[in-house]
Amino acid sequence: MNAGPVALEHGAVDEAAELRARLTEPDPGIPPWFGYDARGSQLFEQITELPTYYLTRVEWGLLRRHTDDIAQRLGCARVAELGSGSGKKTRLLLAACARRRPTTYLPVDVSREMLEHSAARLAGIPGLAVTGLWGRYEAGLDRLRDDGGAPLAVLFLGANIGNATPAERAALLARVAATLRPGDALLVSADLLKPATVFETCYNDPPGHTAFAEFRLNHLTRLACRFGEGRVDLTGFRPAAHYDGAAEVVDGRLWARRDQQITLPGLGLDLALRRGDGLNVGVSAKFDRDRFCREVASHGLASEAEWIDHDNRYGIFLFRR
Ligand SMILES: C[S@@+](CC[C@H](N)C(=O)[O-])C[C@H]1O[C@@H](n2cnc3c(N)ncnc32)[C@H](O)[C@@H]1O
Repeated sequence: MNAGPVALEHGAVDEAAELRARLTEPDPGIPPWFGYDARGSQLFEQITELPTYYLTRVEWGLLRRHTDDIAQRLGCARVAELGSGSGKKTRLLLAACARRRPTTYLPVDVSREMLEHSAARLAGIPGLAVTGLWGRYEAGLDRLRDDGGAPLAVLFLGANIGNATPAERAALLARVAATLRPGDALLVSADLLKPATVFETCYNDPPGHTAFAEFRLNHLTRLACRFGEGRVDLTGFRPAAHYDGAAEVVDGRLWARRDQQITLPGLGLDLALRRGDGLNVGVSAKFDRDRFCREVASHGLASEAEWIDHDNRYGIFLFRR
């Protein structure tokens, strides 16, 4: 039987302090983990269904085509997933793992709703036990390391690794490497470099859709509910994403349409924005295949296999500790 999600100790994590620090940087923003409350998670699911958002479809295609090969190579009785979300793509892979041997799946996510939803989705797969770990990646990895136990495969799919800055990414990969023991595996996906127009089409709403705009605005709604007076005039912001080719990153922002102030007594902060200022609400780094593999390998992980679609848009990479 599958248990409900286990709430992870956040330890030293002080969310208010993190938000205050991020909002008062010279280029202010709201960190990505804050965007995934119940509404944000639902909106992200809508994004994955946009006709222009190719990432989910391409990754799903790769997972479908290569499920047995990937499952055989993973070959682990414990499969953890960082930022597991709805689990709709992972289902096939987990079923293939569980056909080989009894498997425990440990999804780590900040969204309790998504953990419950994915556990329900995965219930009934023979040979699969699910224990959700509710909290941040770091707390999840610490728990996995301390638990010891059977050989471990860590999945980091959905190109989630791109949502970290280069410094955050280095820290996260170091933590993954410190969690894995010799023989353990990391399966990580990355969105590969393409022309700017492809990214700008993918990361903005196509005509008739609003999922991206609502997802970005939801960061502000949540901020106002948690730390403000519960009200924020969303009409004062224009959500949009731009691709910065030099940094190889898609930059999602809320652009202030006028001078305004957001009062956040819970953070002891009045956020003053001038017309034209942009509040960062999420980056998505894009990768050159060779540089990506070298970067991951620099953490003591050996590149073992990769699955890249025919158009070289997207890759899933297997590394071994
Ligand atoms: C871009 S979505 C991808 C979901 C899923 N992997 C997929 O491919 O559809 C990111 C997921 O990671 C979770 N998440 C984001 N930042 C996180 C963090 N720092 N710690 C734990 N979970 C996080 C979100 O709640 C969300 O479910």
